Amino acid sequence: MFARDIGVLYRDQKERAEQLEEALASLKTTYLETIRSLAFVVEAKDAYTGQHLERCRAYGVVLMEALGVAADHPDAEYGFLLHDAGKVGVPERILSKPGPLTAAEWRVMRTHPVIGYQMLENIPFMTTAAEIVRCHHEMFDGSGYPEGLRADEIPLPARAFSVVDAFDAMTTDRPYRRAMPAEQAAAELARMAGSQFDPAVVEVFLPLIERLPVVSP
Ligand SMILES: [Fe+2]
Repeated sequence: MFARDIGVLYRDQKERAEQLEEALASLKTTYLETIRSLAFVVEAKDAYTGQHLERCRAYGVVLMEALGVAADHPDAEYGFLLHDAGKVGVPERILSKPGPLTAAEWRVMRTHPVIGYQMLENIPFMTTAAEIVRCHHEMFDGSGYPEGLRADEIPLPARAFSVVDAFDAMTTDRPYRRAMPAEQAAAELARMAGSQFDPAVVEVFLPLIERLPVVSP
């Protein structure tokens, strides 16, 4: 009798756990899709660059796993997608200006990481995502913006983002130049390790290049 009760109880609990897991998975999918939509709205306002955001997300997740920190930052992928969300606060005449920006226009452009950070900082479970957005133009040697952070002062997920973002930018066609072959882009990353990029992150990323996920158009 007792054993049978335990058996029933176990089955009930197992079923409930499975239902919870399903609910959580569908919530996660909904969350990701909502964030994708928001990111694509911003991208549409800026220069639409194909699947750049989605590749940044996919490559970034692979890199975070290889760095062994993916589980610590489950919201990093949201940050990868939303890195430029703050551009909603930058006038279109600056975003899509054909020629070089004036010093005053650059000052406006350089506010976008902080605007994006402010959009996310109070959303629960978005701490890492917000940090990525705030720090996505920081450079390893301290020459980036908005704060000129250097090395470990820049959160690791943001250092990882810089590498995948640059790699994808180099290996895809842009209106003003042709895509670079992957080997050449890898050489560029290696060349800028220590200045723009964290050398330790570049070292982990380079062997991953051959097995990056293919993002369908
Ligand atoms: Fe940006």
